[in-house]
Amino acid sequence: MDLDHEMKRRRTFAVIAHPDAGKTTLTEKLLLFGGAIHVAGAVKSNKIRKTATSDFMEIEKQRGISVATSVMGFEYHDAKINILDTPGHQDFAEDTYRTLTAVDSVIVVIDAAKGVETQTLKLMEVCRMRKTPVIVFVNKLDRIGQDPFDLMDELEQQLRIHVRPMTWPIGNGPAFKGVYNFYDKNLQLFTTKDKQTVGESVQIDIQSNELDKQIGEFAGKLREDLELVHAIYPPFDRDEYLAGRQAPVFFGSALNNFGVRELLDCFVDIAPAPKRFDAEERIINPGEPKMSGFIFKIHANMDPNHRDRIAFLRICSGEFRRNTNYLHVRSGKSLKFSNPTSFMADKKSIVDEAYPGDIVGIYDTGNFKIGDTLTEGEPIHFKGIPSFSPELFRYVENADPIRYKQLAKGLEQLTDEGVAQLFVNRANGRKVIGTVGALQFDVIQYRLEHEYGASCTYRPMQLYKACWIESDNKVQLEDFRRRKWQFMATDKEGRDVFMAESSYALSASQEKFPDIRFHFTSEF
Ligand code: G4P
Repeated sequence: MDLDHEMKRRRTFAVIAHPDAGKTTLTEKLLLFGGAIHVAGAVKSNKIRKTATSDFMEIEKQRGISVATSVMGFEYHDAKINILDTPGHQDFAEDTYRTLTAVDSVIVVIDAAKGVETQTLKLMEVCRMRKTPVIVFVNKLDRIGQDPFDLMDELEQQLRIHVRPMTWPIGNGPAFKGVYNFYDKNLQLFTTKDKQTVGESVQIDIQSNELDKQIGEFAGKLREDLELVHAIYPPFDRDEYLAGRQAPVFFGSALNNFGVRELLDCFVDIAPAPKRFDAEERIINPGEPKMSGFIFKIHANMDPNHRDRIAFLRICSGEFRRNTNYLHVRSGKSLKFSNPTSFMADKKSIVDEAYPGDIVGIYDTGNFKIGDTLTEGEPIHFKGIPSFSPELFRYVENADPIRYKQLAKGLEQLTDEGVAQLFVNRANGRKVIGTVGALQFDVIQYRLEHEYGASCTYRPMQLYKACWIESDNKVQLEDFRRRKWQFMATDKEGRDVFMAESSYALSASQEKFPDIRFHFTSEF
């Protein structure tokens, strides 16, 4: 197959949102429009139920189910679309951050009534850091929501990105009439036929009487609004969007199938094809003939009869083939995969070949670690698969002295999978587990026992943040290490980590040691 053609038609993205904004519903509707599923409800199993927030086993089970919907590929017009799912539960935010390293763009879903919420802010920070192109979908227009101009202000200020409406809502809540589409210059009417919501499309000159006929008393307000929109917001500029500086905004209602097709049609037109990736050694272009890719996610099999894990490989360049030897750069081993898997909405299938932008699931018996690279022989290391500074910490202790080895292996593998981060305190040699969410501590304890036959206990520790430190000023760095010796730790890669007890201790250190750089992600 033609690599260039296959690569250019790929659109690999993630839908991100604060829980409840409508991510699952929108994803499902995109799949319905793409013909990848035929009934609504097919991806619901993917969702971690809010009622089960304290029951981590339930969550793990649902995460197990969600392997199948981790990546949803489908064909739409001439494009091959890959949607990467991100866990809704905030305790798994780090999974989401890592997934964002494997996409070329994102769609952010915002609840029209609630506006920008905390989780959206955090996720957008990651997108901004990586200059990921962003499209915003303002959802739930069928409910009473905020004034669209206020909402646009809020998006611009909070998400720190320029916005450009691509559609504009006419009324909202019970009086929601539809949207005006700037992109296609038509009116999309929100009507209901046989209890099905339909978006009837009408080509219209907004100055004509036809507009008054169609939307009655809303016509005057729409004309005013559109004039204002043109006056306030610069036109859509694809280069600005691709650079992550301007976000096109759509309005709709995912539940009612409204505005989703417009979003998808525009998305395939404007969203980027697979991007270039930075490796430590050089830049990797997607059109290069030789295969390269990296592991961004590892998923343990929850079925105790099958201990294997699935590692998710993002193809960055070249053509990936089944039963072909690839270099696993970290170990130097040559690996071959007989049943690499691709994922559709509710089914998996073996793939013979995959292209840049595609995600391949590889059955793994313990070879892989997040961030690992596979190539056709070149020893490259992809940059930017970050670990984030954890927020919760506990000392981990062995509860069964004769199973010390099992505990060490379990901790090693679970942290390779990215469930949590492991540090060793230099002063006392004790192991510290750092996580982003509290649930992970339970997950680790449970999995150590059931998968490795090891048991552990936790001891509380007073810690505000762990951050990676470095400096070109060797004298100052050495001085810092000496003075802060009881707060210094090492991560799994042997890097220096400062464990600040309080925000005061951190800012005081930053002030006192100006030549030291304190990093809150491991990517620097
Ligand atoms: P999430 O994945 O972002 O957490 O959100 P999800 O799609 O599950 O949507 C959260 C809730 O919002 C769901 O209701 C869903 O039906 C509803 N919803 C999504 N889009 C719209 C919309 O356009 N309009 C309205 N009015 N509601 C919308 P739920 O009652 O929590 O769940 P369910 O019982 O419907 O599954």
